[in-house]
Amino acid sequence: MKSYNTLSYEQQGAVGIVKVNRPDALNALNAEVITELSGAFAEIAADDSVGAVVLTGEGRAFVAGADIAAMQKMSAVEGRAFMVLGQALMQQIETLPKVVIAAVNGFALGGGCELAMACDIRLASEKAKFGQPEVGLGIIPGFGGTQRLPRLVGKGMAKYLIFSAETIGAEEAKAIGLVEKVYPPEALLEEAVKLAETILSKAPLAVSLAKGAINNGLNTDLATGVAFEAEAQGVLFSTADQKEGMGAFLEKRAAAFAKK
Ligand code: COA
Repeated sequence: MKSYNTLSYEQQGAVGIVKVNRPDALNALNAEVITELSGAFAEIAADDSVGAVVLTGEGRAFVAGADIAAMQKMSAVEGRAFMVLGQALMQQIETLPKVVIAAVNGFALGGGCELAMACDIRLASEKAKFGQPEVGLGIIPGFGGTQRLPRLVGKGMAKYLIFSAETIGAEEAKAIGLVEKVYPPEALLEEAVKLAETILSKAPLAVSLAKGAINNGLNTDLATGVAFEAEAQGVLFSTADQKEGMGAFLEKRAAAFAKK
């Protein structure tokens, strides 16, 4: 991994851990952070030694939003371009052919909530705070929040959160489906890595195609979604992993899947 000004990176086995590291601004996303995250995820996509990713923040925030100081001066053209830049990063993470787990350690507001939502799974610290405060700043969520939030929590709750700009805690975020699990702060990263390792112990192509089926299916109608599911399943029945997974079950032993 290259060295980045606003990120830190470490690898535990096959799990890459990306930390947004701009704690003085509560890890706010300016163009540099977004561009560096995009660079890091492109490197990870191409790196066979990384099977899954945990994304987290340094200090007391996950990401406290898009950088308000940077946005305050933007023209309409610049504002639009900044949103397109952020949206592209979210799309890149969402479609990464590897699982990305958000370990939300603190504030996940605005662009931070949107970044967490672009990840496959969200684990949160008991101290995490979620919200979309944009309408209080005269804008709307612009890194995909108006689209991903209703897909996760439903239309009514998304409108409630976006219109009211209310900040909610981790347990409430879990209750509405914005977060999958909540852990004590000191256990969060370890639990995220453990989950990544559990996922990596499963058949890699199966996990990757399940990700594709879920994501593509949510962007289309049910008939098209299940057709994609059947095609993906057909591919999986041609793999050594399918023979191994089912053979191991019948032989009452643990499956040993090909690494990738
Ligand atoms: N953009 C730019 N800078 C930010 C930021 C953001 N989204 N969020 C926090 N910061 C900066 C603050 O300006 C402050 O910088 P300073 O020390 O140079 O003054 C520093 O991070 C610490 O934040 P501070 O507000 O002092 O911490 P706090 O504990 O009092 O409050 C928050 C924490 C998260 C509640 C508060 O920072 C906040 O509301 N941030 C903005 C959240 C937001 O609206 N995000 C959506 C943007 S679209």
